[in-house]
Amino acid sequence: MAKTDATPEDKASEKTAEERASGEHARRASGEHQQVSESHTPVQSSMPVSREVRISSGRLGLASVPGTWLDRLLVATIDLPVSEGEEAVVLAMLRALSDILPACGVGACLVYAPPANGLNAERKSTRDLSGAEQKVYKVTPPGEDHRAVGMDPTRLFPGYAFEFSLGAEPNGTTLHVAGDDPNLMDADSATRHVLERAAQGMGRGLLFARSHGKANEDATNLRVLMGHMVQAEKLASLGQIAAGVVHELNNPLTSIVAYTDLLLRKMTATPSDPADVERLRRISESATRMLRFTRDLVTYSRPSQQRTEPVRVSTVIDRALAFCEHVIAEAGAEVSRDFVTVPDVSGMPEQLAQVFVNLVTNACHAMPASAGRLRVTTSVLDDRVKVTVEDNGHGIPVENLTNIFTPFFTTKSEGRGTGLGLSIVRNIVEQHQGEIWAEPVEDGTGTRFVILLKPVA
Ligand SMILES: Nc1ncnc2c1ncn2[C@@H]1O[C@H](COP(=O)(O)OP(=O)(O)OP(=O)(O)O)[C@@H](O)[C@H]1O
Ligand SMILES: [Mg+2]
Repeated sequence: MAKTDATPEDKASEKTAEERASGEHARRASGEHQQVSESHTPVQSSMPVSREVRISSGRLGLASVPGTWLDRLLVATIDLPVSEGEEAVVLAMLRALSDILPACGVGACLVYAPPANGLNAERKSTRDLSGAEQKVYKVTPPGEDHRAVGMDPTRLFPGYAFEFSLGAEPNGTTLHVAGDDPNLMDADSATRHVLERAAQGMGRGLLFARSHGKANEDATNLRVLMGHMVQAEKLASLGQIAAGVVHELNNPLTSIVAYTDLLLRKMTATPSDPADVERLRRISESATRMLRFTRDLVTYSRPSQQRTEPVRVSTVIDRALAFCEHVIAEAGAEVSRDFVTVPDVSGMPEQLAQVFVNLVTNACHAMPASAGRLRVTTSVLDDRVKVTVEDNGHGIPVENLTNIFTPFFTTKSEGRGTGLGLSIVRNIVEQHQGEIWAEPVEDGTGTRFVILLKPVA
């Protein structure tokens, strides 16, 4: 909004740059020093200066600002390192202001944008009363660091007689300047005008820095996501090939089991070498195990028929445990089952088996070598069937107890986990109108997964 009538404020601003600058220097040279008590120190509120006021008073007031100051400010504003982040922008502006006002302390209280995805987690900062994350930056003339010591957030430089602050952003980021010259507090001084422009420039710079950071973060997330998708695709096709291979193995294995059983029966009926009988028994047992494994694998990898039926939970758990036999053996884990009689649940047995296979596999991966304990329980809770799968593994940090269900969240090394297991588990449980959560085991070691399922109506 342009002004037409000259106001007293305008008149005051009609002083030339030289007059004003020389006045300031004269005052400094005479050592004029007014100590103002803290309660009288006018510290401007951190509310942003309204745009209208800035434009009208700035246009007139800037005439009083020495050209060299404006030049330095212009160069600094153009060169703000927005691609290096908020902190770099603030520091660049403070360095420029420190050049312009070498006798003053200059500082900023930067209120950060909320960190996204924990990318800024290493930032050391405090929180203000509203919970926003903020950090203070101060630049003092050489040898005057002691004047910036203090805890009062409204006075970044308690050692100077005067200090004022300007809002640089609506979120509460402020720019501060402190000095001993009373002229500093003059709303129409060259210092004040240059500070207003610097605050404006810094505010814009911060805005660009955040947009830049956000764009970079989005691009990184997209790249990571694409990598995960390629990996998931590869695993899916590998799964299909494996299922095909397993299916082909089924028939010859069935023949092996049938013929070894026949031979065993024959040999036990006629006088034979007991060592040969034992050998044949071992062949039969191994082949039977392989057959069970391949059948389970085929069932597991077959797409669900999306048909619900009454399911006995203990049977599904037993199948999942049998399917995980090799993982359990590899971990050297001891398995205990605490099953009580519970109603059948309404569900898809293959999918429910998949839930327990994932939980048991994760538990085995987390357990201490050869000292693992896996406990599976069933019970009834508030008209629902409750199943718990508990281990004595390394546990899950509290802050990750919900993240673990997010697709692609994994703490396992590349090739060991894709981070899809628990997201699939949660989907299946939710499809069954059930609930699932993870909690630490009370004794401090291990994790318990709790699942609640709806019984058959
Ligand atoms: N019983 C457990 N004990 C400790 N950490 C666990 C347990 N279960 C899951 N986790 C944590 O949750 C993460 C996610 O598990 P999820 O099953 O989704 O993926 P994953 O096991 O890493 O990979 P995969 O897709 O092969 O299953 C794991 O990487 C692990 O950090
Ligand atoms: Mg897993």
